[in-house]
Amino acid sequence: MMVTRAAHFRLGLAVASLLSFPQVLHATPSVERQAQLEHLLLQDCGSCHGLRMTGGLGPALTLDALAGKPREFLIATVTHGRPGTAMPGWKALLDEQDVAWLVDVLLEGYPSP
Ligand code: HEC
Repeated sequence: MMVTRAAHFRLGLAVASLLSFPQVLHATPSVERQAQLEHLLLQDCGSCHGLRMTGGLGPALTLDALAGKPREFLIATVTHGRPGTAMPGWKALLDEQDVAWLVDVLLEGYPSP
């Protein structure tokens, strides 16, 4: 009886961790937050990088322009900015999840072709 209960308990834990693990791995902002972030991408990022991310005061952030640039490097750039350049850091406004989502949107190609 005790063994069965312990086994059930362990199975319960395994199921719980299977259910929560993917959320930790692929934490994405809520749908509402994604809409806010896309607005920010167009209004704020777009003011320097262009509405279609083809560049302006800041460089192009298109699929081609970002090809081969490591995700972590781009996340660091958006989080902390580039001192000595016009690129500001966004960590006061955006959390890690927000920044990662924005970078992934850009790495997938924005706006989509
Ligand atoms: C005030 C102008 C300005 C704004 C606003 C701005 N950027 Fe930038 N950004 C720059 C400049 C200038 C650079 C290039 C810095 C350098 O010379 O290395 C840059 C660089 C970058 C890079 C690195 C590109 C590369 O090829 O390495 C990324 C990614 C980026 N910006 C994303 C964003 C995002 C996302 C936002 C909005 C949350 C944003 N930027 C808002 C000016 C801006």
